[in-house]
Amino acid sequence: RKVVLAYSGGLDTSVILKWLQTTYNCEVVTFTADLGQGEELAPARDKARLLGIREENIFVDDLREEFVRDFVFPMFRANALYEGQYLLGTSIARPLIAKRQIEIAEQTGADAVAHGATGKGNDQVRFELAYYALKPEVKVIAPWREWDLTSRTKLIEFAEQHQIPIAKDKRGEAPFSVDANLLHSSSEGKVLEEPWDAPDEMVWQRTIRPEDAPDRATEIVVEFERGDAVGIDGQRLSPAALLTRLNQLGRDNGIGRLDLVENRFVGMKSRGCYETPGGTILLAAHRAMESITLDREAAHLKDSLMPRYAELVYNGFWFAPERRMLQALVDESQRSVTGEVRLKLYKGNTVVTGRRSPHSLYSMKHVTFEDDEGAYDQTDAQGFIKLNALRLRLGAMAGRRGGGL
Ligand code: ARG
Ligand code: SIN
Repeated sequence: RKVVLAYSGGLDTSVILKWLQTTYNCEVVTFTADLGQGEELAPARDKARLLGIREENIFVDDLREEFVRDFVFPMFRANALYEGQYLLGTSIARPLIAKRQIEIAEQTGADAVAHGATGKGNDQVRFELAYYALKPEVKVIAPWREWDLTSRTKLIEFAEQHQIPIAKDKRGEAPFSVDANLLHSSSEGKVLEEPWDAPDEMVWQRTIRPEDAPDRATEIVVEFERGDAVGIDGQRLSPAALLTRLNQLGRDNGIGRLDLVENRFVGMKSRGCYETPGGTILLAAHRAMESITLDREAAHLKDSLMPRYAELVYNGFWFAPERRMLQALVDESQRSVTGEVRLKLYKGNTVVTGRRSPHSLYSMKHVTFEDDEGAYDQTDAQGFIKLNALRLRLGAMAGRRGGGL
């Protein structure tokens, strides 16, 4: 059997690699993706070689542009937030990794895929739902659910037995588990498991403390076309370059830190510390762009479906008909979401200070407190209110004053 492993080059997936070779007797193909996690990829290639993977079985791909263009941006068109707060930085990366793994499986004639997610989390679900949606007969190997390397000590023993190089700091317990890409860094587990204990400052890796941010606000203008950000301060940028730039701006102003307890799909609650500097700015900017370009009912319908969309992404149903249906609705809504948003970034805050669009629905003529020269007839409001009040009055007359039932 031949298996494509999602390989980071770290200790855990290196152990998995060896375990697949020795226990499963598999020919292993490694796949390492650059999703903007900020790590060199060359060491992963070297390590795969060192562990006996043949050159033609080592895949290293830069997926940053595809990640932002085809996954992050479509999700941001929906303003997706899970449980009101989480910008889904890990969730949205999983379907892309899985998709590429399946492509490599087809290309190399592999019949199986493997990942390094545990049996307790969301990631296993996301990877595997995507695998099955794209290759229904694929064999999935999830070593964490199968092997007997149930402790850190056993894992390191196995690594030593098989001459897997171990970074010095990995010998001791790493203080928490990190997942990173261009959209976010997440930290969870170990020292973060007690939800009452404040996270140590070392948890935060891609933002400075808001307290240390400059006393002067940074002003920027973000340009949108059909719901996607396309430029900053007059400079057009590719999707990945744009998110990278927003991340820098966010980092320098201490924006996008989040400490929360969320509900995992498998049923348990977990505490995570997330940093989404660019994404936090992008969400605020996108909402401001929509505020003048979207019709009220279009906006409200879209907003009412957003939690559902976010839940689908969180639970791993990216490649599912219901996500595609919602995406089509969201994308259709974005046709006029074009223009510019002006923002101030200041000590952890993203403050919108202006918005303009060639497709704006904002009518100063109608809203003005000054003389509107007949644009809006205030006497129309009387009948509007009267008819809206009719059933309330009938209720009150029937003895149900104030909306009582
Ligand atoms: N709890 C977040 C999520 O489910 C982050 C998961 C982090 N994953 C990881 N392998 N450390 O999306
Ligand atoms: C894991 O369990 O592998 C990481 C956490 C998660 O997937 O939710």
